Amino acid sequence: MATMKSLIGLVNKIQRACTVLGDHGGQGMSLWEALPSVAVVGGQSSGKSSVLESIVGRDFLPRGSGIVTRRPLVLQLHKTESGAEYAEFLHAPKKRFTDFAAVRKEISDETDRITGKTKQISNIPIHLSIYSPNVVNLTLIDLPGLTKVAVEGQSDSIVEDIENMVRSYVEKPNCIILAITPANQDIATSDAIKLAREVDPSGERTFGVLTKLDLMDKGTNATEVLEGRAYRLQHPWVGIVNRSQADINKNVDMIVARRKEREYFETSPDYGHLASRMGSEYLAKLLSQHLELVIRQRIPSIVAMINKTIDELNAELDRIGRPVAADGGAQLYMILELCRAFDRVFKEHLD
Ligand code: GDP
Ligand code: NA
Ligand code: MG
Repeated sequence: MATMKSLIGLVNKIQRACTVLGDHGGQGMSLWEALPSVAVVGGQSSGKSSVLESIVGRDFLPRGSGIVTRRPLVLQLHKTESGAEYAEFLHAPKKRFTDFAAVRKEISDETDRITGKTKQISNIPIHLSIYSPNVVNLTLIDLPGLTKVAVEGQSDSIVEDIENMVRSYVEKPNCIILAITPANQDIATSDAIKLAREVDPSGERTFGVLTKLDLMDKGTNATEVLEGRAYRLQHPWVGIVNRSQADINKNVDMIVARRKEREYFETSPDYGHLASRMGSEYLAKLLSQHLELVIRQRIPSIVAMINKTIDELNAELDRIGRPVAADGGAQLYMILELCRAFDRVFKEHLD
């Protein structure tokens, strides 16, 4: 019997295959939508990109004050057994990135390729895959931050445009929402929680993430929220301490940042008793567990969807005639093979 770990790996593969197929035929899109992913939602500079980076455990995302993330970034994490660590973009499939600073630059450059060096946003996603022994298999989506007003260089409709873009990802029933809320602002006015409540009223797929605990006013703390006594959500809130802008400027690396975060919670008079349920590593583990649960629940409907896709792919291959030498045919064939492998694993789980 296949392990759940390999099942999530296959989910990642199939999502990638469906993305490629979506560019060509469009058949795969419904399948893509059936599989779970995780998206970050929150106000501008609430720490969304920082939280994603800590979950991945690598420095590779553009971060900073102001509107930095201007296109959706669909990020697939693939755990490798071999120890190999590299990244690949869908828009540059032949190029393997081993330098994560170059990945960050490519995200920036690829953003600018569509939007120019402006403060404009674009709905067109960037697809990035990261292969590493140090990640859990997950699909993560980084999104531009919700804002209240347009700034110079932005259209008047930007506030609505961003909200609509974010909503289009998080309204999907299989999108797990990380509602990123900075602890140094009024939680009652959290844009993240507002939008999450709207698209997920029961809260079953929303995880509240409280960032910037280190920036709260002296004499205040967030224990009410973190202990589940205020702003209660279905899943307990997770507190986070990301790198500050000063840390980023000083190039404080991820391993040091994680150690400092752990120390922060373990030695905190306010949060010491919660330390085992706080921090980026705990959040990554929690998400992975939740994802497994969701996939298990969805197995029957995913099997039905895969069977439909296999039939569609077979019909498509019959139509273009096989064996096929052309690129399109080869790609369809590869996807069909993936679907079959996927189907076998699911069937094993159902038996
Ligand atoms: P995004 O706009 O929501 O993606 O936020 P970023 O991840 O780009 O972070 C915005 C700014 O807030 C950066 O300067 C980060 O260093 C800073 N920041 C994010 N989270 C924390 C945190 O937990 N503590 C501190 N001190 N700064 C943080
Ligand atoms: Na920002
Ligand atoms: Mg960002």
